[in-house]
Amino acid sequence: MRVLSGTKPTGDSLHLGNYFGALRQFVALQEQHAEALYFIADYHSMTTIRDAEQRRRYTLSVALDYLAAGLNPERAILFRQSDIPEVCELTWLLSSVTPMGMLERAHAYKAAMDRGESVDHGLFTYPVLMAADILLYHADLVPVGQDQKQHIEMTRDMAQRFNHAYDCEALVLPEPYIMKDSAIVPGTDGQKMSKSYDNTIAMFAGKKQIKKSVMGIVTDSNGVDEPKDPAAPIFQLWNLFSGVDDQKAMAERARAGGLGYGEVKKDLLERILDFFSEMRLRREQFESRPDDVEAILRQGAEKARAMAAPVLEGCRLAAGLGS
Ligand code: TYM
Repeated sequence: MRVLSGTKPTGDSLHLGNYFGALRQFVALQEQHAEALYFIADYHSMTTIRDAEQRRRYTLSVALDYLAAGLNPERAILFRQSDIPEVCELTWLLSSVTPMGMLERAHAYKAAMDRGESVDHGLFTYPVLMAADILLYHADLVPVGQDQKQHIEMTRDMAQRFNHAYDCEALVLPEPYIMKDSAIVPGTDGQKMSKSYDNTIAMFAGKKQIKKSVMGIVTDSNGVDEPKDPAAPIFQLWNLFSGVDDQKAMAERARAGGLGYGEVKKDLLERILDFFSEMRLRREQFESRPDDVEAILRQGAEKARAMAAPVLEGCRLAAGLGS
């Protein structure tokens, strides 16, 4: 069983959605499976970030977040997507069997069109590059949040089309791995937590910043005495840091009335800081050793490249490319 996933470098820290939707599962799966590959999707970040220095900084930042969260280079292969340019070749091979209609149905592309944005080809072809990321390493299992499910389905479709077109089994069909309780982590405004909605709570921002985000979580205007909806975003977020019994007790208190949102927010803030405190220390340690982090990524890339080479060669052979 080979596990693989990636994260786009788009900021100075990953957020709670990234952690509970994906990164937490990355760490758990590295312990359960012999082979795990986790990369930083710097090619993918090119659809939104046009500043080279910023991309470098954000890329390092995801590496630090990975290591802080407990990814262990002895157990998992950690690498930068762009260190394996072969992925671009596979993208082309897949492009040639991917119908336009499939890409036109992609959520991110459709949303950008609906917003009336001018869309470049990179955004349109984003799902093909993502399929290549997964298929290049014969990954079986892809831990992701719910928002990436469509991409995994498209990946399976592209793999099938390629195998069928060239009557081969060069590509392996992957399965998504999505945790029910954190498939969609809400942001401070109740929509899906996302950098692009500016509603995130960062794992590793300064404490002041995290406090500001938590205090800004949108709630209804029910007074302290009134009953509250235990499914509201504030409680969903609180539940991420609480055991099942605590969750039940909190839901009862919410329904009964007499619980103020301010109290829940204060408690949530404490839980967040406490939950990430050990990781924060580990992050600081790695941050002071950027050369070691770079070495981890380079060694990871070497291993990943060795895994990618025979898969790409199999595709080239099947398609009649090369001699
Ligand atoms: P990205 O960088 O947007 O997000 C990284 C991971 O975090 C999950 N996630 C969430 N989960 C639950 N609730 C949320 N609010 C939330 N926000 C983000 C995402 O589902 C994802 O698992 N296209 C990918 C990166 C990528 C990739 C890949 C992933 C590129 N190639 C190949 C897997 C396999 C992305 O932009 O994720």
